[in-house]
Amino acid sequence: MTGRPRLREAIDVATTALAGAGIDSARTDAELLAAHLAGVDRGRLAAIDEPDADFFTRYDELIGSRALRIPLQHLTGSAAFGPLDLLVGPGVFIPRPETEALLEWALAQRLPEDPVIVDLCTGSGALAVALATHWPLARVIAIDDDPTALDYARHNAESTTVEVVRADVTAPGLLTELSGSVDLVVANPPYIPTGAELEPEVAEHDPAHALFGGADGMAVIAPIARLAAGWLRPGGLLAVEHDDTTSRQTIETICGTGCFATITPHCDLAGRPRFVTACRTTGGSARLAGVGAPAPAEARGSRGRPNPKEPA
Ligand SMILES: C[S@@+](CC[C@H](N)C(=O)[O-])C[C@H]1O[C@@H](n2cnc3c(N)ncnc32)[C@H](O)[C@@H]1O
Repeated sequence: MTGRPRLREAIDVATTALAGAGIDSARTDAELLAAHLAGVDRGRLAAIDEPDADFFTRYDELIGSRALRIPLQHLTGSAAFGPLDLLVGPGVFIPRPETEALLEWALAQRLPEDPVIVDLCTGSGALAVALATHWPLARVIAIDDDPTALDYARHNAESTTVEVVRADVTAPGLLTELSGSVDLVVANPPYIPTGAELEPEVAEHDPAHALFGGADGMAVIAPIARLAAGWLRPGGLLAVEHDDTTSRQTIETICGTGCFATITPHCDLAGRPRFVTACRTTGGSARLAGVGAPAPAEARGSRGRPNPKEPA
């Protein structure tokens, strides 16, 4: 990693400390925190001059904080999401690598050059900003009901045309003016069933409001399916992330609106059931794709675990 003996030794010591604190990605985190302090990419650590004493004091402090299971992203102030580096911190959900699977699916869809896109439960604005960057002529509306999340979303969306809106997506009659005009609705809502066991980084640092979706994890997903049914034009697309134990319920909920066809389960990059997509029909009948086929293994998933994105 580095030819600087003191830095190499400090990273080795930090790795041991973080592993001892139960952090699976100990070396990655130790190197990313050193790179953050040095102001370089992780891959450039070997090329920096031996840091001064002040660096090592600050590095020890950062490693001490990480050993207390403060999320890496709160210490660096940023989270990688697809091609983006987003500002994050206490009070906002840290975007997860598994949501990149939904993003990749969305980016692969054929939409008009100037689509109307809605990102429900936008948090830091991750999906909205990534989609607005890909479709610069799009109208992208990013909705969340939490003021702290919305502050982060506004910051992250600064160089885009994303419209950030404060609203409760479970409230009836939301933005009825969008009726029948939206090309794509994406959502990564709170979906963990109440009582699920979580890693300390998640349980103590992600807002509970961003995590839990009621006893069955479906409390926000069900209203989202109804909202999307009202907003999407015929042929418009819906993609909703869900807990890896609730793929079937999500499919059934979307099907239950009677407004979607081609309802399809998808896995994340780790192979866990992670999101469902569907296409708005003109009429009221929903057809299922992939239902009846054996569902992928439904085991507790990665939202409950710290999952820092590792740069290549
Ligand atoms: C799991 S986070 C996802 C954030 C973002 N979409 C992402 O992928 O990083 C869920 C977000 O939903 C928001 N939220 C929870 N309930 C909501 C509701 N009823 N209406 C609007 N937003 C809600 C939370 O504030 C949180 O920012």
